[in-house]
Amino acid sequence: MKTIDTNYLIVGSGIAGLMSAIHLCTRGRVLLVTKKDRADSNTNYAQGGIACVVSSEDSFEEHIKDTMGAGAGLCKEDVVRSIVSAGPERIKHMEGLGIRFEETEGSVVSGYDLGKEGGHSKRRVLHSGDMTGKEIERVLLARVMAEPNVQLIEHCMMIDLVCTSRLGATSENRCIGAYFLNGRSNEIFAVRAPATILATGGGGKVYLYTSNPDIATADGIAAAWRAGARIANMEFIQFHPTCFYHRDAKSFLISEAVRGEGGMIVDADGHRFVDDYDSRGSLAPRDIVARAIDDEMKRSGMPCVYLDIRDKGRDFLLRRFPNIFSTCLSLGVDMAKDLIPVVPAAHYFCGGVQAGIDGKTSLPGLYACGEVACTGLHGANRLASNSLLEALVCSDVMARKMCEDDADKCVVEVGIPEWEIGDAASSDEQVVVEHSWNEVRTCMWDYVGIVRTNKRLERAFRRIHNMVEEVREYYWEYLVTPDILELRNIAQTGELIIMSAQRRRESRGLHCNLDYPDMDVALNGVDTVLERAVSSDVARQG
Ligand code: SIN
Repeated sequence: MKTIDTNYLIVGSGIAGLMSAIHLCTRGRVLLVTKKDRADSNTNYAQGGIACVVSSEDSFEEHIKDTMGAGAGLCKEDVVRSIVSAGPERIKHMEGLGIRFEETEGSVVSGYDLGKEGGHSKRRVLHSGDMTGKEIERVLLARVMAEPNVQLIEHCMMIDLVCTSRLGATSENRCIGAYFLNGRSNEIFAVRAPATILATGGGGKVYLYTSNPDIATADGIAAAWRAGARIANMEFIQFHPTCFYHRDAKSFLISEAVRGEGGMIVDADGHRFVDDYDSRGSLAPRDIVARAIDDEMKRSGMPCVYLDIRDKGRDFLLRRFPNIFSTCLSLGVDMAKDLIPVVPAAHYFCGGVQAGIDGKTSLPGLYACGEVACTGLHGANRLASNSLLEALVCSDVMARKMCEDDADKCVVEVGIPEWEIGDAASSDEQVVVEHSWNEVRTCMWDYVGIVRTNKRLERAFRRIHNMVEEVREYYWEYLVTPDILELRNIAQTGELIIMSAQRRRESRGLHCNLDYPDMDVALNGVDTVLERAVSSDVARQG
């Protein structure tokens, strides 16, 4: 088995991974590993933009207040303050790298064409049309590829983190790298590094309906859990209210910016029913809008609701939302003339690997940055467009802190053992894997979705726990493939979500349990933290 030594191992090639690589490569050798093509990341699909205070009509205090308001008593104020106030400098840095945000000619307040999204009291979302993520990914990738100190490896999937406790070491448990499966050659190799950075994003694919691309299988969260790192607030899954509802549109999002520009959610009769739930109507925070839609769909039996932005006119829509306009049109919906059919879908994990804004997790040597991390910025519900900001700021803080700590200088003395194949055989039963994928995702959607009950959670736990066990057996019996590894991760993450949801005996932010319909003020500021003892059976290793 080949083992590669590096100073920094980064897993994932979205904004968090690429930015971390850009910061760290001035300091040491960076190996960035991504499981599909280099641009396959959640970042690439981000439509809305980056929330940041850049207007003279806005203030840090207002952005902080909006973030904490959405977060429903679970945001960490010091974290929110640090991230919000570091935003403008990070935006300048991005612009220095070549990223262009849309500007408004003659604007005296900022120069930028600022978008508005749910829960924001001001226009503060910098964007590049409706393809902000694509622009960010394009520029950052080009930059990373030009750095001699960064090596990027594609189509290699992390199997498991390697920790000293699993190798029989008696000293403090420490992450020293990871095993990977090359999805093209089926070879397994290891990477050894004093600092391993998870930038693997979230896991919308745990649910049947999601706005996320196929890669979003919570790989980092599941691997960190198996390695013994603390995981927090997994019950807070954000469902985006407006995914395009169309047989042929897989995971296509209709950005909240459409509502920011005046789009209204209506039922089939044109009634603006969200106004009946919240005075902010269609632009209330996402938890409220998604629940209102879910309620309305269940009550009326309609398979979807609609977004109406016809009154803005074709020219405006084409200019502001070129990608959404053309995608809808290609599927027979003309935004300038038709109502857009939409449904809520799993969109963002507010919880994840517990980490500081410096990326440090509870496991020495392991860092987490971006959606995979739970830093305390989002609390019980993320404010729209705060996530790219979090990744930008935290990657910078993490790199600085690593330099201060000499994180890359810590010598890894332990060798990584050979990967043991044991008696594992090649599986010819792809049907089992496919069936299990569907079973996990359907169960999570039906029982652990927008609205939960104790009974549904119990039922889900029994089923998903069985799946975790079954997948574990399967994992041991057969040679690993990317599909099996992803299945193992979504099943494990589903179980973490259910365990967290069962622990929280209240409704707060994105977690709504009909058996505990009220918020319990005694739980303000109380995270749901899961931790497990590491045993030696968690990875097939020597
Ligand atoms: C959107 O464009 O609606 C998504 C933005 C976000 O999730 O922050």
